Parts: sequence; structure tokens; C-alpha cells
Amino acid sequence: MTHPDTIIINDVGPRDGLQNQPKILTVDERTQLIQALIEAGVPAIEVGAFVSPKAVPAMAGAAELFANVNNSDTDFSALIPNAKGFELGVAAGVPTLSLVVATSNTMNEKNIRMTNAQALDVCRTVIAMSQDTAATVQVYVATAFECPFEGIIAAQQTIDMCNTLFDMGANAIVVADTIGAANPKQVSALMSELVSQHSTDKLSCHFHDTRAMGLADVYAAIEAGIRRFDASIAGLGGCPFAPGASGNVATEDVVMLAEQMGFHTGIDMPALLRASDLAIQLTGSARGGNARAWLDRKFQHNNHSTSQGSKP
Ligand code: COA
Ligand code: ZN
Repeated sequence: MTHPDTIIINDVGPRDGLQNQPKILTVDERTQLIQALIEAGVPAIEVGAFVSPKAVPAMAGAAELFANVNNSDTDFSALIPNAKGFELGVAAGVPTLSLVVATSNTMNEKNIRMTNAQALDVCRTVIAMSQDTAATVQVYVATAFECPFEGIIAAQQTIDMCNTLFDMGANAIVVADTIGAANPKQVSALMSELVSQHSTDKLSCHFHDTRAMGLADVYAAIEAGIRRFDASIAGLGGCPFAPGASGNVATEDVVMLAEQMGFHTGIDMPALLRASDLAIQLTGSARGGNARAWLDRKFQHNNHSTSQGSKP
């Protein structure tokens, strides 16, 4: 069980962060970014996605990438949309495979070309397939608060979907505010209800900072008992199929919030800032977390243009 004083950060920069960048990184560059996160002690990393390379060209080469970074100390995961993704992920040896299902038909159709019912059928099939493998399957419930096409999603709709997925045997659920629309009051209500029904070890939150409410949402979820969070190095992020979605809440900001509140993350901030520099340098578009200027001063970190030796 997660210690109540520990907050586990899963860095989704290499997947959510890079899938929507104007610049497509090479497998080597993505490997470097993941290595930098490992060096910073980030305990969990979403390395990429086993999706159609036609749908998301930036995620091509996931198996090769995973072979480059695999080690036994980090909890690695990869996103999958279907059974083919599961098979590819298992063949690559990725221990946790993350299905994604949105709360609304329109978002599922745009993202994975399936209705809700079809997406849930895929979840049932893939979770059943996983019983014969060493892989663990978790599910992202995307657009958990608001859908860019269908608007506000009633909390009960998200709760019902989570319960259906747990009943199917999902190992864990990541409640994802894909477009960064949630306010802390909504987060508090939804996560408190889920925590009353399920173990906090099986629940995690994923926020985007589109409306600058990302850290407030993290705080609301912490207060509700959540101890696992997705975050993205340097605030990279965004879904190519969800209009208006901007970057995830930045890992450096979430680590700062957690540590300043007295939680342990096990992450080394100076090394994390180096990983953030690398993300900025490689993508040319990431801007770093909201607290970057203060963190640079506090940890006497030279800014990215000097520490990396080249301008982004
Ligand atoms: N990995 C790699 N290739 C895959 C795949 C997977 N998981 N699933 C399907 N494909 C390939 C098929 O083999 C087929 O290839 P071909 O054209 O060379 O024959 C092609 O993709 C189309 O397959 P099809 O089953 O008809 O899929 P589709 O065109 O209806 O697209 C998805 C459905 C789910 C594969 C696609 O929309 C997708 O990958 N979406 C991912 C979206 C995403 O990552 N969003 C961001 C995260 S929230
Ligand atoms: Zn996201």
C-alpha cells in the first residue's frame, strides 16, 4: 500500500507530452528524455504508446524505445487503444499497459474510432487477455470532467464508467481531465466519491493546466486521499484529438507542491530540472513548469540555454 506520506509521480511527458508536439522526436531523443527522468528518480514513467503510427506518428518505435530504457527500478507503462496495442506492448515487455476510454461517444470516436460500447468491449477483451500474461492493465478514463465535444460530464457518468471497468478487472484507473477543464470543487467531489468506493492504491489523477487550475486540482485530489498523479516534465502535453487541450501539469510543479506540503516523492529536483531543460531543448516548445524561475533560483540551477550548451 502507498504510504500516506508518499506521493507517486508518473511522468507522462514521453507519451502525452510528445504525442502532440509540432516537432517529432527520434527514438534516440525520446530515450535521452526518459533516461533523464530515470536519473532524477521519477518512480513511474509512461514511455510511449502502441498506437497506429498513422494516427499518432510521434509515438512510432515504442518497442525499440522501451528496449533502450528498460530497468527493474522504474514502473514503466505505455498507452494502448486496442488488443493489437496490447499484443505489441506485451511482446515489448512493458509491464503496465494503459487502455484509454473516454466518457463520451464523440471523444471515443475522434480518439480511437469507437463508440463507448465498443471501447468498453475492447477493455473487457484486453483485460481478459491480460490474465494469461505478466502484464497489468489499467484504464485511463479520459474527459472525466468535460468533453470538448459534448460539454460537462456528470460525475455519476464517470463514476459508473470507473465501476464498470473495475468490475471487468481493471487493475487501476487513471481519472483524466484530458482538456484541463476541471475545477478543484469538481475534483474534490468526484475523487472523494471514488475513494469511498475503491482503494486509493488503484486510483490516480491526470490533470492538464489549460485553465491554470492544474495544481489546485492536484491539491483537491490529495485532500480526497489520492496519492498517485500523472504529470509531465516541463509541462509538455496535449491530446491531438481533443481541441484546446494544452500541457499537463508540470512534474516540477507537482513535485514542488508535494514536497513543500511534507510529502515524499523520491525525486531529485536538480536532476529533474535538468530533465526539464532537456524537454525544452528537444521540443523547442515546452516552457517548463509555472514555478521554474523560483525553482532555478532555489536550486541554483542555470537556465536551459546555458546548462544544455545550446538554445532551444
Ligand atoms: N498499434 C499499431 N498499429 C495499429 C494498432 C496499434 N495498436 N491498431 C491498429 N493498427 C493499424 C492496423 O494494423 C492498420 O494498419 P494498416 O493500415 O497498415 O493495415 C491501421 O492501424 C488501421 O487499423 P484499424 O483497426 O482500421 O484502426 P482505425 O483506423 O480505425 O484506427 C486506432 C483506430 C485505435 C488504431 C487509432 O485511432 C489509434 O491508434 N488511435 C490512438 C489515439 C491516441 O493515441 N490518442 C492519444 C491518447 S489519448
Ligand atoms: Zn493527458
